[in-house]
Amino acid sequence: MPRFRTHLAGITPYRSARDEFEGEASIFLDANENPYAPQWDEPYHRYPDPHHERLRTALSEWLAVPPEQIMCGAGSDELIDWLIRVTCEPFRDALLTLTPSYGVYATYGRLHGALVREVQLSADFDLPVEALLHAASDSTPIAFLCRPNNPTGTFWPVEKVKAFLDQFHGWAVLDEAYVEFSSDPSGWLPHRRPGTILLRTFSKAWGMAGWRLGYAIADEEVVSLFYRTKLPYNLSAPAQEAGIRVIRRWSAIAPYVQQIREERARLAQILSELPWVDRVYPSEANFLLVRLPNAMKVYHALLQRGIVTRYRGTLPLCEDTIRITVGTTEENDRLIETLCAIFS
Ligand SMILES: Cc1ncc(COP(=O)(O)O)c(C=O)c1O
Repeated sequence: MPRFRTHLAGITPYRSARDEFEGEASIFLDANENPYAPQWDEPYHRYPDPHHERLRTALSEWLAVPPEQIMCGAGSDELIDWLIRVTCEPFRDALLTLTPSYGVYATYGRLHGALVREVQLSADFDLPVEALLHAASDSTPIAFLCRPNNPTGTFWPVEKVKAFLDQFHGWAVLDEAYVEFSSDPSGWLPHRRPGTILLRTFSKAWGMAGWRLGYAIADEEVVSLFYRTKLPYNLSAPAQEAGIRVIRRWSAIAPYVQQIREERARLAQILSELPWVDRVYPSEANFLLVRLPNAMKVYHALLQRGIVTRYRGTLPLCEDTIRITVGTTEENDRLIETLCAIFS
């Protein structure tokens, strides 16, 4: 059975001013706010809803998942951080993850005193199910799988992920930050089962990175613990409102996601035809991992010409690679021209 840290069973949640108040009121003298709001059109001098009720209702309708199974964070990074804190007993438990993958799992794991068991992907970045299961034990209460994986762009087949989930007994987190760009944008939602936590973000496909909004779809006991133990006002009122507004506008956003997918294919095609590019890895996210000679030098040469990519050559299996986010058509053309100029 998946478990939380033992001391949490008896924890007394912090109760914010707005937690203690029930019913209707017109005069709020409970939270030490400033009663004047001269700078704002909206009532932003008041604390935001700590339970994100309206945002969770909007997400619930969008996802067809009960609001009791949805929790919202300041980016999915906040949720990753919280999940590690409530599952791993410091200096005793290990979080299980893969490498190369999203570095935040291991970094924040270590920050919280968790041990980190990183299992290397197999050749061609496939999911090493046997090795993962071998690394799992009673002291790995949580596993992070990023699908599509950052930085490789790999979208592991459902059957492989199932083979792992069938035998893993801790919390299995599927980080779906890039799922909207994949060939199966509903991701793991149709395959959900108890003990699995889906992490989603508004930062990528939804184009809202600056708002800091992410959410998780999880068992009610996870969501309930989150709302009892998270920082009281983790999401600003404007961020919650922006989330509610944008959910209604997916039809206006979807064409941009499609455009990025088409640009990804075009960029991958052009790059793979360049004689000095060793490899463009298949990607189901909004970036491409590209292997080329002297990748570190290429990274700096691009930077000198005003183009920032991500050098990934220090990661296992990623020697001489850069990760390139798919930009606009013009940006991608500039990238190609600049790369050609560097190599000519
Ligand atoms: C795989 C993955 N998960 C989560 C995040 C964090 O996203 P957010 O902006 O929601 O914190 C990122 C950001 O790059 C990411 O690549």
